[in-house]
Amino acid sequence: MKYINELPIKGKRLLVRVDFNVPLDEEGNITDDTRIRAVLPTLNYALDEGASLVLCSHLGRPKGKRDERYSLRPVAKRLSRLLAKEVTLAPDCVGEEVKRLCEGLSPGEILLLENLRFHEGETKNDPAFARELASLAEGYINDAFAVAHRAHASVVGVTEYVQLCGAGFLMKRELSYFHRALEEPARPLVAIVGGAKVSSKLGALENLLQKVDKLLIGGAMANTFIKSQGFEVGRSKVEDDLLETASQLIRQAKERGVKFYLPVDCVVAEKFDPRAEIKIVPIQEVPAGWYIMDIGPATVRLFTEALHNARTIVWNGPMGVFEMDAFSRGTMAMVRALASSYALTIVGGGDTDVAVHKAGESDNISYISTGGGAFLALLEGKTLPGVAALELCDPEGRRD
Ligand code: 3PG
Repeated sequence: MKYINELPIKGKRLLVRVDFNVPLDEEGNITDDTRIRAVLPTLNYALDEGASLVLCSHLGRPKGKRDERYSLRPVAKRLSRLLAKEVTLAPDCVGEEVKRLCEGLSPGEILLLENLRFHEGETKNDPAFARELASLAEGYINDAFAVAHRAHASVVGVTEYVQLCGAGFLMKRELSYFHRALEEPARPLVAIVGGAKVSSKLGALENLLQKVDKLLIGGAMANTFIKSQGFEVGRSKVEDDLLETASQLIRQAKERGVKFYLPVDCVVAEKFDPRAEIKIVPIQEVPAGWYIMDIGPATVRLFTEALHNARTIVWNGPMGVFEMDAFSRGTMAMVRALASSYALTIVGGGDTDVAVHKAGESDNISYISTGGGAFLALLEGKTLPGVAALELCDPEGRRD
């Protein structure tokens, strides 16, 4: 795969796939612009090379229809401020008028196409739609790591119709940190997996068991493991159909010599409500009818000690219901444990980045991935379709 700095982009008009799928509040204001800032190095490099830029992205899931709530207008404004440069928002992402606007771009100018998912051809990877996108520019750069797990037209299909294709610097950073963490890690390698469901992380757990030295499980998904070991979990969420699978994973860990850690105590609440009565109990003593909301202090100590000699730590998924302050201590304590570690620390997906920001520790983590589903797909050991498509480009950056 070629990266933008290895390709002859001087003075060219480039179609750049970015992931500007940023969170918006009810008034349509951007609440976190990390994903916009993350592609600035690629955009600035291309602009310095005298390229003109046609940026394309999705925002939300408008299901193939125009819906103003998902317009990229706020993104155009924010990007313009970050680059200190005018960014024009196109009325659509394909069509005659858009083509005319693209052809009218001078070196150094930027056009942001309107939401790709206003057209169903995007998610369907429709060849006609992909060809139309490709026709807007002379080359294609994919810097949208966070959507690289989707085989969509602007991620995969488009590479078949462009003269020149490669990846941007964000893609490079994401893939290289991931490689350092899971392909050639400094050991011990520890993975922390939390979040709601075992079912959505089963593939990741199976893959991680083949790679890590220690696996720490927290969050609601730990309940299924705890119950599989014969303990009661009150009214907490459990996936009863996965109890046997959970036991099997624990057995597999043992067979492979992977140290497997489950919570030893927890914060329980009488209701799923921060104002409800709360107590800390050993995992063997969860009261009937109560809810497990967070890992307890003994678990924090256990998990922190397990990280002590780690040289690489990968973390996906919170340890409890951290959105409610009363149940955020476990997750916050783990963020601090990572932040003070000398290990290479990589965090991604499933709100883990939100927790790191909430704890004010984002500067003390080696790398925070911009990917949610894409990061999880890598944890599962999958090849990302967006990356695979770029790998088919020949050494000159042309698709075979
Ligand atoms: C994400 O937020 O994970 C990416 O932008 C992909 O979005 P999607 O899950 O709607 O495809």
